[in-house]
Amino acid sequence: MKRGAQPTPVALDEVDLTDLDRFRDNLGWGQFDTLRREDPVHWHPEPAPNGGFWALTRHADIRAASRDADAHRSLPTDDPRQTAVRALIAREFRPHRLRQNYGAFLRELTKNVVCAALTEPEFDFVQRISADFPIQVLSRLLDVPKEVTRQLVAWSNAAVGITEHLPCRSPTTQDVIAYGRALRNARRRGDGKDLVSILVNRVPADGVPLTEREFDSYFLRLLKAGNETTQHALSNSMLGLIEQPGQLRLLRDNPDLLRTGVEELLRWASPVYHVRRTAPRDVQVAGRLIRAGDEVVMWFASGNRDADVFTDPYRIDVTRPKVDHLAFGRGSPQVCLGKALARLEIRLMYEELLPRLDSVELASEVTRVRSNLVNGITTLLVKVRSR
Ligand code: HEM
Repeated sequence: MKRGAQPTPVALDEVDLTDLDRFRDNLGWGQFDTLRREDPVHWHPEPAPNGGFWALTRHADIRAASRDADAHRSLPTDDPRQTAVRALIAREFRPHRLRQNYGAFLRELTKNVVCAALTEPEFDFVQRISADFPIQVLSRLLDVPKEVTRQLVAWSNAAVGITEHLPCRSPTTQDVIAYGRALRNARRRGDGKDLVSILVNRVPADGVPLTEREFDSYFLRLLKAGNETTQHALSNSMLGLIEQPGQLRLLRDNPDLLRTGVEELLRWASPVYHVRRTAPRDVQVAGRLIRAGDEVVMWFASGNRDADVFTDPYRIDVTRPKVDHLAFGRGSPQVCLGKALARLEIRLMYEELLPRLDSVELASEVTRVRSNLVNGITTLLVKVRSR
């Protein structure tokens, strides 16, 4: 399916959100359309050992279920300790702090990445631009060499899904944890400004220092959460702009549109298909009773194609006003911590790249990640004429 086009319809009894091949073939969207229209709070069976899950696919239901303002309807657990630990580094991810601490570095890095990629008339956008860039940013945030960061990210991605809280006991996860602990020990009582130093040397507002387990968990979360997601946001949005070239020209000729257009690109890219939660209490969603202990999957990507909220949702429209997308999650205590950074990275990338592109087209078929968790591209070969 071309991304500007409508997806192929799927009958309700043929929907299978656990069939990863369909996602690799970019066929998730037709299933979401059917569910939103015919059964928006859908009980979905699952192969053993899992017992099945509720699939929420409408924008309004996902929003209502994820926010914690109304305890009777919300799914997230409100864990004060988790909030206190998160607050330790949340300050570093505020937009003005990011601009102040990393603005010049990010601009320079983006320029270099774009210049290096555009030395070739044909290249893999994933390899040359979208995979490398977020790793280099994270290396700077953690103050760890790029090659080491790349290895750590690869290991942690291989081990568990992006929103898991504690890792399984795979050897790779143990390697990541061991590396994180070595960094922590080396930076304890130092005056470093990197995220590891902050996690080690600051005490959460409840006065209880981070336990080893909490440190491990956060270190892993930082490695996993910000890389693949930003990578796929860049690749998917680039593919969209290639397929809908009028939008690319619009952004190139009106760079100011990028400030708000980034939100439309994020909506359209939807790098995280879903997050999964266990209902902490009985909740009613759109008239259906979800019982405490039931598994619930919120399909953010589906909410981002909901025609009740977004007119003509399969079209990119960088002039769309107030894009109320769900790409970062919404309203829950676990909402993406790095969203301001991701927005900045994407905006800077297109600010540097688009003015230098005379033309860009696909040089071969796109290949995609076989996953219903991340909506990702593995190869995006492009042919460019640059200025
Ligand atoms: C376009 C890029 C990104 C997307 C689409 C994205 C999306 C998400 C989503 C959907 C969640 C789960 C939200 C929920 O459970 O409700 C999440 C969590 C998280 N993200 Fe992002 N993310 C992106 C970039 C980043 C970056 C650059 C960082 C930091 C370097 C980051 C750090 C985190 C962290 C630490 C969490 C877990 C927060 C917590 O559990 O308290 N993300 N992200």
